[in-house]
Amino acid sequence: MPTTKAAVELLAEPLTLRCGAVLPHRLAKSALSEQLGDRRNRPGQELVELYRTWSRGGAGMLVTGNVMVDPAALGEPRNVAVPARPDPAVFREWAAASAGTEAQLWVQLNHPGRQSPRFLSRQPVAPSAVPFDDRGVRSVFATPRALTGAEIEAIIDRFALSARTVLEAGFRGIQLHGAHGYLISQFLSPLTNRRTDAWGGDAVRRRRFLLELVRRVRAEIGATAALSVKLNSADFQRGGFTEEESLEVVRELGEAGIDLLEISGGTYERAAMMGLTSETRSSTRNREAYFLDYATKARQISDVALMVTGGFRTVEGMGAALRSGALDVIGLGRPVTVTPRPARAAARRGGRRGRATVPEDRYPAGRQLAGDPVAHPADASRRLRQAGGPPPRCRPLARRRGGQ
Ligand SMILES: Cc1cc2nc3c(=O)[nH]c(=O)nc-3n(C[C@H](O)[C@H](O)[C@H](O)COP(=O)(O)O)c2cc1C
Repeated sequence: MPTTKAAVELLAEPLTLRCGAVLPHRLAKSALSEQLGDRRNRPGQELVELYRTWSRGGAGMLVTGNVMVDPAALGEPRNVAVPARPDPAVFREWAAASAGTEAQLWVQLNHPGRQSPRFLSRQPVAPSAVPFDDRGVRSVFATPRALTGAEIEAIIDRFALSARTVLEAGFRGIQLHGAHGYLISQFLSPLTNRRTDAWGGDAVRRRRFLLELVRRVRAEIGATAALSVKLNSADFQRGGFTEEESLEVVRELGEAGIDLLEISGGTYERAAMMGLTSETRSSTRNREAYFLDYATKARQISDVALMVTGGFRTVEGMGAALRSGALDVIGLGRPVTVTPRPARAAARRGGRRGRATVPEDRYPAGRQLAGDPVAHPADASRRLRQAGGPPPRCRPLARRRGGQ
């Protein structure tokens, strides 16, 4: 492990992405579904305040919680969604939440596919009509209907339209949610994609949906906006999306010119992204974060910038990961709901030894996922309001080199 001071220095290095965007340092807020949209699935004031706080907290880049590309296909109640005839003005205040800071705000675009609960979609759509295996999960999600070829093309159009809308509103980048069992993941996995047409049948056709989305979204947003993909290292399910296939997708995404690949893993049935599988538990014991071994392999086959999310809790652990060369950006999910100003907290600890930024046991009991208590952005928002509004601005980590 590097000393705390050395770790803070590593975190403070800026990073220039292929598109030319500069991340002021290496701490990023990963996507956390906020469920703070209004009744018409538009971003509300609470969401704007939360992102103001997180931006001022010094995260170099913030990915929004998943924004759905179709209000008729939601993953959760109060998701923000982009309608068929969108007005960019609706997203403008949210996009401006980082004004006056160096933070980049990117939007994560998503379609839930079969992961739209029964109370939101009586019959969700998916690559194939495959229900969940797990009986408990099946009680929440109905068996989906297989998409037609024309419907697949229409969903690609919706991603492109959504990307153009939020970029026009002022966001600086797009992330496609290709992880955690949502629609893109469903196309990638042989368990959920049983098609035999141009969109399935073998690994090359299963990844066509994702690569087509990358091509179309890039065409909409241009070469200077950031384009990222969040990808599963694997599903951790027998017969599912394997590590070998995932690495092949990494290679092709790099060749397709994305700017940043965020690595995660797992699905609702195997919640590896939360550290709730035996594989991720043992990786955490060894190296703090869940997906570092995979990142090391991805590094060997592509020069795309890598962000790894899942399990990072200490400045020293983050520094060790950066020093190993396996990744470029540290993604933080649950910690930012407890410590909304992670860069500031990291910088403050630069002079002290061995202090954890966010001890595991400090998560407030929030919403339940896969049986474990997890922190939720809505809880963070509530606590901030109780505390009397957003905290004062702080200087970003990059200006505090040497842990001062
Ligand atoms: C309440 C909650 C909501 C989440 N929503 C999203 C999401 O919208 N998109 C996404 O890619 N990941 C989502 N995640 C996963 C996180 O981005 C992250 O991968 C995961 O929490 C592991 O990182 P951590 O150990 O730093 O929390 C969510 C996690 C939590 C706890």
